[in-house]
Amino acid sequence: MKIAVLMGGTSAERDVSLATGREIARALRQGGHEAVGIDAADGRLIGGPQASGELASAIERMPPERGELVQLAGGQLTRSLEQSPDLQGTEAVFIALHGGAGEDGRLQALLELIGMPYTGSGPLGSALAMDKLVAKELFVSAGIRTPPWLVAPVGSTAVESALGGFPVVVKPSHEGSTVGVSVVRSAEELQGAIEQAAAFDGVPIVERFIPGRELAVGVLGDEALPVVEIRPRHEIYDYECKYTRGMSEYEVPAPLSPECTEEVQSLALKAHRVLRLYAYSRVDMRLDHESRPWCFEVNSLPGMTATSLLPKAAAAAGISFEELCERIVRLALVRERPTGTRPGGPG
Ligand SMILES: Nc1ncnc2c1ncn2[C@@H]1O[C@H](COP(=O)(O)OP(=O)(O)OP(=O)(O)O)[C@@H](O)[C@H]1O
Ligand SMILES: [Mg+2]
Repeated sequence: MKIAVLMGGTSAERDVSLATGREIARALRQGGHEAVGIDAADGRLIGGPQASGELASAIERMPPERGELVQLAGGQLTRSLEQSPDLQGTEAVFIALHGGAGEDGRLQALLELIGMPYTGSGPLGSALAMDKLVAKELFVSAGIRTPPWLVAPVGSTAVESALGGFPVVVKPSHEGSTVGVSVVRSAEELQGAIEQAAAFDGVPIVERFIPGRELAVGVLGDEALPVVEIRPRHEIYDYECKYTRGMSEYEVPAPLSPECTEEVQSLALKAHRVLRLYAYSRVDMRLDHESRPWCFEVNSLPGMTATSLLPKAAAAAGISFEELCERIVRLALVRERPTGTRPGGPG
């Protein structure tokens, strides 16, 4: 099959997306597909069909700043797909973007409008998962435990009364990769952290800090994958712990009792469903000292390098990275409803 892998873009997570896209393109080629990488920031091809080595070096050469993804969505992508000799005959788009218009449903809506099959969740699910506030409201409605929260502007009196005091976690409601997230230990640090989070997309959220074990649960198709436990060197699983070798240890399957594993996995499936996600996702949570899981968020486009969390979980279930990419492509071809909604309730 001819597959265009969309990567890069202009969001804060551009670099992570390039790493994801490069590995996905490589895996698809190994699986016998013709994978063409496109930098979503300007529609430029970053490696023709034959160029797997070239793709990697092109990514390294690329300057960090690009135009707007919206520009691409507004026509450049469709024109590229129709006119670029390298992209003619594209049968599906693999979305390897993180953050911004590539993750929040806009790109998914565009691809629906042009009738191009694409991987992952539809416009509705993507938008719901991207907005941490809407997602938390849906978690509450579905009985999924999520840390109590307040929306900025917030003073320390409200933190004391509604969240039980400090520490709290301050985060932007739209960003990923722990960009702009901080742990606040005292009233004096609160406003600074809110301002920092406000520099990113969406309103800042102030959440109760949940101490305990960090878990991630991948969902593939209609099943939860083995649970991953993350032991970051820092107090939270921050950008450095996510992307620096040696800054976190991982164990999969997580050493949990069978009952706890089942509870965490069914919670992950419930979170995936209530957000109307499709094909795959990764649910981020923590297990507190009483072994109660607290759901933070669900990523509709989780990291997909071979060493990312979801591929690690798939590997523990006997699914290779190549096979994982293949299954995600196949799910793209059998998507049921163009609006992105799925049959069935939150269940
Ligand atoms: N309420 C909380 N209590 C304790 N730790 C938290 C809390 N919220 C977030 N964290 C820590 O910060 C990390 C990032 O938080 P979260 O998953 O909400 O943000 P993100 O930036 O969207 O991450 P991702 O890279 O998964 O998209 C969590 O994995 C966890 O380690
Ligand atoms: Mg997260």
